[in-house]
Amino acid sequence: MFSLGLVMFILSCAIFQAFPVSSSNNYGGLFPELYQISCPQANEIVMSVLEEAISKDPRMAASLLRLHFHDCFVQGCDASILLDKNSAFKSEKEAGPNKNSLRGYEVIDEIKAKLEQVCPHTVSCADILALAARDSVVLSGGPYWEVPLGRRDSKTANFNKANINIPAPNSTIQNLINLFNKQGLNEQDLVALSGGHTIGMARCVSFKQRLYNQKGDNLPDVTLEKTYYNGLKSICPTSGGDNNISPLDVASPIRFDNTYFKLLLWGKGLLNSDEVLLTGNVKKTKELVKSYAENEAIFFRHFAKSMVKMGNINPLTELKGEIRNSCRRIN
Ligand code: HEM
Ligand SMILES: *[C@@H]1O[C@H](CO)[C@@H](O)[C@H](O)[C@H]1NC(C)=O
Repeated sequence: MFSLGLVMFILSCAIFQAFPVSSSNNYGGLFPELYQISCPQANEIVMSVLEEAISKDPRMAASLLRLHFHDCFVQGCDASILLDKNSAFKSEKEAGPNKNSLRGYEVIDEIKAKLEQVCPHTVSCADILALAARDSVVLSGGPYWEVPLGRRDSKTANFNKANINIPAPNSTIQNLINLFNKQGLNEQDLVALSGGHTIGMARCVSFKQRLYNQKGDNLPDVTLEKTYYNGLKSICPTSGGDNNISPLDVASPIRFDNTYFKLLLWGKGLLNSDEVLLTGNVKKTKELVKSYAENEAIFFRHFAKSMVKMGNINPLTELKGEIRNSCRRIN
């Protein structure tokens, strides 16, 4: 009897032969053409589910972009973020940076269900997250990039690492640089990827410290522009209102563009982690904020490049991990 594994192996050899250039690239064993033969409809299915989900809820594009980021920073891009808790482990969903905050799980479920109908046991949840992030950016008006594919899904999640590895909104510039370095990402990746905050929303609890007690002195962050600051105070009062939301890019919250960087120059960045890219006294990040604010094309190019880099963090390949049947549980 032919095992599915053997068939897949022969198929991947055929694909490697058909696309020798991509098999010798620097993607750690991943390559964009993986599903061209095994699931040619994969891209269309992801795109069509997203089009509907985002037209119903424009914020969903942002939520799906963030989901991929939060997946990759915890034991690599292995869909660990999607696992519900079970008797063996706590879920990453319950960790501080994710709880009551991360969204989009149902959209990934819908994509997975459609893919399982058309090409069973073929497209991993980790690859779905990477494709959904890319397509969300494209549908919001941002750049396109080819997504290297072939990540397999983890059999475990790591609640503690989710708490440790994912940067907090009140991070200093040095915290941010360190956490990104730990993932093999540099200062340029940090600034370019922070540009993901050109779409989406944050809860009051994520920026309250800046409004009322930035340095433990009961004073606001002096870098906040006055009228912007007053507006934020009405959304986010001293006590309560923790779940009230405000756009990360107040000028164009559902459009992927470079206004996030322009707003930073005007003292209108929402999170402390946004602000410190400019005022954190690191020359490199400061200069990049300015250059992205001036030149959207450079931002788009760097963003796409850094997304590929982030998407390649520690993937499970070959015999490691599995292709989950449901993204919420191991097989
Ligand atoms: C640099 C360090 C980063 C920090 C400290 C950070 C922090 C945050 C916080 C606190 C929120 C709001 C969560 C809430 O209040 O519910 C948020 C939202 C968001 N983040 Fe980040 N983030 C960072 C990097 C990134 C990266 C690299 C991406 C993607 C490339 C990203 C994409 C997003 C998006 C799209 C949203 C909005 C999500 C939505 O509306 O559902 N962030 N981030
Ligand atoms: C960030 O916020 C956490 C939790 O609210 C707090 O414990 C920590 O001291 C804050 N860090 C900074 C640098 O303000």
